[in-house]
Amino acid sequence: MRTKIIAGNWKMNKTPAEAVALAQALVAEIGSVSGVERVIVPPFVALAGVAPVLAGSGIGLGAQNLHWADSGAYTGEVSAPMLKGLCQYVVIGHSERRQYFGETDESVNKKTRAALTHGLTPIVCVGETLAQYEAGETGAVVSGQVKAAFAEIPAADALKTVIAYEPIWAIGTGRAATPEGANAVIADHIRAVIAGLYGADVAAALRIQYGGSVTAANAAELLAQPDIDGALVGGASLKAADFGVIVRAAA
Ligand code: PGA
Repeated sequence: MRTKIIAGNWKMNKTPAEAVALAQALVAEIGSVSGVERVIVPPFVALAGVAPVLAGSGIGLGAQNLHWADSGAYTGEVSAPMLKGLCQYVVIGHSERRQYFGETDESVNKKTRAALTHGLTPIVCVGETLAQYEAGETGAVVSGQVKAAFAEIPAADALKTVIAYEPIWAIGTGRAATPEGANAVIADHIRAVIAGLYGADVAAALRIQYGGSVTAANAAELLAQPDIDGALVGGASLKAADFGVIVRAAA
């Protein structure tokens, strides 16, 4: 039985002070919900302020990106050793980073390996564009992204990762994938690929989230699907009450 994981990706929202206030509201809202892993993912500059707010709450903390090198001449970047101790999770390869910041399958792989090396849980994002979706290329695109992300990663490490299937056409558009459609992509083009790489046991244990316009209204039916092990939530994670509904729908 896979424990569901709900992560709230705040993207480039909230000042450090606003982030602390939202974190406090979230501790009140979902701190006591059991049976579901809860993670919030504020901007880098808010991590140090939010971490003590979450202490003892059972809510995990994640970063939105990292660099694969431990340190060095990479102005503006943040490394896994810098995050370690501050947070436990890191989102890697979000489509907005692939689209606007030159993230590639290769950098996603390097970042995933860096996170694992330093004991951070990677939430690795994959998903097709609208054009690819309409051209019927979803399966090929998503399975290719999964294979690339996991290159040279051994099974024991693969088990520690979380994958987020986020069709780009569903992110921030209010047009979520259908529960059956998202479940089919996850089962046929992600879990099956993991089974091919690592065997049935790893595939049965690895958690795969859905993301893209998850709301308080549609979370329950998405999360009821057999292969959807949680959600990566953007917009609705900025409202404590809505995120609370989504978290409880997974519990
Ligand atoms: P959304 O974003 O829930 O606002 O669509 C999801 C994401 O980008 O992770």
